[in-house]
Amino acid sequence: MAKNKTKFVCTECGAQFPKWQGQCSECKEWNTLDEENEIIEHVANRAEQVGGYAGEGSNNKILKISEIVQNENIFFKTDIEELDHVFGGGVVEGATILIGGFPGAGKSTLLLQLAKSLSSKMNVLYATGEESLSQIKMRSKRLKKIKYNDDRLFFTSKNEVNDIIKTCKENDIKLLIVDSIQTAYLSDIPTAPGNGRQLTECASTLNRFCKNNNVTLLVIGHITKDGTIAGPEKLKHIMDGSFLLSSLDNNSNSRFRLLTAEKYRFSNLETAFFAMTESGLQSVSNPSAMFIQDINEEATGSVITSIWEGTRPILVEIQSLVQEVSKGYPQVLSMGVDKNRISMQIAIATKMLNIPFSSYDVFVNLVGGMKTNETVTDLPFILAMYSSNKQSIISRELVSFGEVGLSGEIRPVVNGVERVKEAGKAGFKYIIIPKANYSSHMDKIKGIKVYPVKNIIEAIDIADKYSK
Ligand code: TYD
Ligand code: MG
Repeated sequence: MAKNKTKFVCTECGAQFPKWQGQCSECKEWNTLDEENEIIEHVANRAEQVGGYAGEGSNNKILKISEIVQNENIFFKTDIEELDHVFGGGVVEGATILIGGFPGAGKSTLLLQLAKSLSSKMNVLYATGEESLSQIKMRSKRLKKIKYNDDRLFFTSKNEVNDIIKTCKENDIKLLIVDSIQTAYLSDIPTAPGNGRQLTECASTLNRFCKNNNVTLLVIGHITKDGTIAGPEKLKHIMDGSFLLSSLDNNSNSRFRLLTAEKYRFSNLETAFFAMTESGLQSVSNPSAMFIQDINEEATGSVITSIWEGTRPILVEIQSLVQEVSKGYPQVLSMGVDKNRISMQIAIATKMLNIPFSSYDVFVNLVGGMKTNETVTDLPFILAMYSSNKQSIISRELVSFGEVGLSGEIRPVVNGVERVKEAGKAGFKYIIIPKANYSSHMDKIKGIKVYPVKNIIEAIDIADKYSK
């Protein structure tokens, strides 16, 4: 028998509570709980209709491995270089993707560029609940450089998901863009658009339709203050991919944008780099240049290193500031690099270099808001700390990378050659690398002198040579 049940759902994070409360105890936002009445039986039916993707619809037949037909993924090139890169070679036919970002990040701009570009290959529908059609026309005028096929690119201000799906069927749509999931709704769900249950069920319904009909789906989602896509995390699980559009250094005044894969079923997790210009988002073909723009600005405590992003090296600056403890215990503050790793490196450097870093306040920052889990930043971090402490400036023409072990030995990292090549290409003259990464053909890389080192003492000697 159908049963009525009341629950309270947070519109920010989707957490559910049996009773109303002023503050969501999950995400700590105030006045975000909405009452929802659900009919248990109805929910069960809907789960059956729109639950997780099985692809083969209602076909109940079980199959042997030998009987399963493997579909090759078809990638449609968007001709937006960085977008193709982050999608593993182009938009995958039938893929369902969520694009999150703060207001003004450029989500609508990017997806309109994509829509225009792919209209040369397929019928595209852009459903907008965020802006009027006339606003879209204005934006399209700014993106005038992108060629499109006017007979295959359609727009609608419909927000009801079943209406959108019907429109797709009637017009043989192969690429559907929903801007945004927070304005979409299903009329048979008795809650407002943007509400937790609306979000997940709209996403599931769209996902299932697109999977069963080989329609590619791109959905825009707003993010909350802490950088997660508003609404339950479940949204991410429903889709094949989830990407976040953010600005460099998380500074909304910056014109640089990063599109980072958080989850993606069809390729590596990559980051794409763009610059917002007068005519939309342009691919940045040399991302390293973005992070080391002020290369001539000399400073103590700053060292250039090479981190690995998806399938390519990126040169970034690591900065450190060490100073005598101002009050209480020494503090360690780290942005972009794992704090435990930093603490370990502080202990190693204290012992090996005989400088009391462990009793100093130590701050470290990977410039540009980049993050890395790699161990390559160990050596450049120690060099940056050393430079800050000595008040010396390490040459801006020097790059270094390497993992540092507990006895101060420098250990190899993956993709050494590519990192050296990237540094040479970007115009750096010297590079300190782990000895075990060295191979003689590194010496043939033009314009850059390679210094293979075994331990941090050797690395410091070379850094001193290029310091003032
Ligand atoms: P928009 O795509 O509307 O952001 P979102 O959908 O993520 O909220 O982009 C908004 C910003 O981008 C806005 O401040 C105007 C700027 N912009 C440009 O600088 N150049 C352009 O060509 C376009 C279309 C927008
Ligand atoms: Mg928008």
